[in-house]
Amino acid sequence: MEVLELIDKLQFTHNISAEEYEFIISHAEQMHIDYAAKKADHTRKEFFGNKVFIRGLIEISNCCKNNCFYCGIRRDNKNAIRYRLSPEEILQCCKNGHELGFRTFVLQGGEDSFYNDEILCNLIEEIKKNMPDCAVALSLGERSIESYSKLKTAGADRYLLRQETATEEHYQKLHPSEMSFSNRMKCLENLKALGYQTGAGFMVGSPFQTEENLARDLFFIQNFKPEMCGIGPFIPHMDTDYNNFPAGTLNQTLLCLSLIRLANPKILLPATTALATISSEGIPLGIKAGANVVMPNLTPVSVRKNYSLYDRKAVTGNQAVENIEILKKQMKAIGYEVVVDRGDFLRNK
Ligand code: 5AD
Repeated sequence: MEVLELIDKLQFTHNISAEEYEFIISHAEQMHIDYAAKKADHTRKEFFGNKVFIRGLIEISNCCKNNCFYCGIRRDNKNAIRYRLSPEEILQCCKNGHELGFRTFVLQGGEDSFYNDEILCNLIEEIKKNMPDCAVALSLGERSIESYSKLKTAGADRYLLRQETATEEHYQKLHPSEMSFSNRMKCLENLKALGYQTGAGFMVGSPFQTEENLARDLFFIQNFKPEMCGIGPFIPHMDTDYNNFPAGTLNQTLLCLSLIRLANPKILLPATTALATISSEGIPLGIKAGANVVMPNLTPVSVRKNYSLYDRKAVTGNQAVENIEILKKQMKAIGYEVVVDRGDFLRNK
């Protein structure tokens, strides 16, 4: 089959093989990428019309016990200026966001033991008590099933944990030996079983990634069926071992977004900060390629630059909450509308 036929097949069956994904990736030319984007945009409009959901991203701590080889806040990066927001500061960020129309808050951070279950549960309860119309999403890495369960009971609605790569061998090249692919996958299973709206995802163009690896990520998302999927290009960080690897490309990231939309029409799919970082048009192009979520940064400006996962991370422009009006205008200009809504996963539609 030709690339165009495979894209059609994906649109109609939502189910192709890992080999077929690989064929698309390895043969995709500009016209195929544009074709996939058009189909993905059409599919998204069937379920979401022209709505774009916003999530307020709060980067609660850049302290991390892990040492992922690609990540700027890895434990061994002595140049990182570490910070940790207090629960009171986080609550205040949420309140500010609420006034601006946000109805979902994403609490993201490194794996920081300060944020134990008790502190997090109290914080989540407090957010829910103050803003009962809001969803709370957590993105705090690998925790025990007991911990995930307590956080869920406290009111957390969603959890984001990228698999990073769906190929074990590749996972081991990106992470030190104390981290395991099997535990990553187990965490994702646990989150799903506990009833979280679960987000998985991966980097495009990460070090050592082959076309086969990337195809496996797409195939994994197709079959695991997470409610959300974070996809962004890898971007090197100067203080990591992988500082000399090239960044993932705009085109390949856009293609992945479109294929995921076709595989999983109702998925909540952000146009990510990493995409905004590699291209000033990253967000609008991502939306046009099938994404339907944007996550402006609600982190206090004073510490925002320290949450440095990769070089030159976009913290201004349409990525900054101060500029929410710019984002709204930008979306309007391409025919989309930013809405005030929790933007939950559509279960029975
Ligand atoms: N480039 C792009 N994305 C990165 N992340 C971490 N480091 C990098 C990098 N150098 C992503 C990971 C993680 C998310 C929070 O940020 O995929 O899950």
